[in-house]
Amino acid sequence: MKTQVGIIGAGPAGLVLSHLLRRAGIESVVLESQTRQYIEERVRAGVLEQGTVDLLNELGLGQRMMRQGLMHYGVELRFSERGHRIDFKNLTGGKGVMIYAQHEVIKDLVGARLSDGGQIIFEARDANIHGLDDEKPVIRFTQSGSPQELHCDFIAGCDGFHGVCRNSIPSDVLRVYERDYPFGWLGILAEAPPASHELIYANHERGFALLSMRSPKISRLYLQCKPDEDLDAWPDSRIWEELQKRLATRDGFTLSEGPVIQKGVTGMRSFVVEPMQFGHLFLAGDSAHIVPPTGAKGLNLAVADVRVLAAGLKEFYANGKRELLQRYSEICLRRVWKVQRFSWWMTSLLHKFADDSEFDRRRQLAELDYVTSSRAASTTLAENYVGLPLE
Ligand code: FAD
Ligand code: DHB
Repeated sequence: MKTQVGIIGAGPAGLVLSHLLRRAGIESVVLESQTRQYIEERVRAGVLEQGTVDLLNELGLGQRMMRQGLMHYGVELRFSERGHRIDFKNLTGGKGVMIYAQHEVIKDLVGARLSDGGQIIFEARDANIHGLDDEKPVIRFTQSGSPQELHCDFIAGCDGFHGVCRNSIPSDVLRVYERDYPFGWLGILAEAPPASHELIYANHERGFALLSMRSPKISRLYLQCKPDEDLDAWPDSRIWEELQKRLATRDGFTLSEGPVIQKGVTGMRSFVVEPMQFGHLFLAGDSAHIVPPTGAKGLNLAVADVRVLAAGLKEFYANGKRELLQRYSEICLRRVWKVQRFSWWMTSLLHKFADDSEFDRRRQLAELDYVTSSRAASTTLAENYVGLPLE
């Protein structure tokens, strides 16, 4: 097989890239190791930045999102049992975020790509890449047990954190920056009407809690837990009890409860590799960087990367220039590090750290008080949350 851009991974990065390339008249083939059903059902992110929403609409992929998604123009920060709203619309000149599940985005992107004749090969196993230094790299993989080769001009490594692309770059070329956090998130989906119209990020002395949602009937809730938390120790009744405590307010807020339909634990880390490119390989999304989920940035950052990559490839195929492609990593990393900073900051502001002293606790509460009472500080949070402008 032959194509212009071989894309490994059908997550948000790989699929958005394939749509951007199609719009620019550039051919691509997406190789995905999982089945279509698996990627269309995997429960993950839920918050789309304004820029991500606008891009999906621009690409003609936003109809279902605009019908079923929930546009939010603020979030609540809750601490000392009181809520404080950060008004995005007012602070950012009208911007907001869309609450729309990542797997719904995936369904929309896969459906549209296949119906416009695009090629996504599911269950493409054992992908490995060769010839990154040559003019014509190749991806070898197996499909239904038989070996295949995809020859291409460029490879987009959109295969997530556990993929193969990052490790195909010689280790002496890559520099890794990382930080682990001493906690994780226990997340549930529940058949219960969300107890608030907007997301609530709660700092509580028992640990962080987050109320989010998927629809007017489905809540998505998260609790700070141990990084290796055993789900068996968390029957539904204990999860609700803990959420009720962490989200309680002085004026009697109660969470609506209902059947738990999905449960999982996510670890938290910050991770960046530099550079994000090597020869004809370009890493995008989680294959190059991971953020802790507190800022709701992972998916959005993946989309921002492939916008830069698509622009570089477009320039190359239109007039043979490689300037933008050569600056891919440098351009992406400026945003990546700002988003890393924001995600780290939100995480530090809202979680309980085991070794916190009473001083640290007071400082954290003072910071929350400052962020919610100063227009300048609220604006900092708001403009990062709705998404910084693209370079
Ligand atoms: P992925 O979505 O991981 O996609 C990579 C794809 O590559 C996968 O489909 C995988 O199957 C495939 N693949 C892997 N290896 C291979 C291989 N060898 N060959 C072929 N295919 C391969 N982000 C937000 O923006 N907002 C949020 O609210 C948010 N909340 C989150 C909540 C949770 C619980 C979790 C786990 C994540 C959350 N994130 C959030 C992060 C977000 O889900 C990821 O950052 C995003 O999925 C990254 O997209 P990606 O395309 O880079 O990688
Ligand atoms: C959701 C996930 C996040 O990481 C976040 O910060 C906010 C909301 C969600 O899944 O709805």
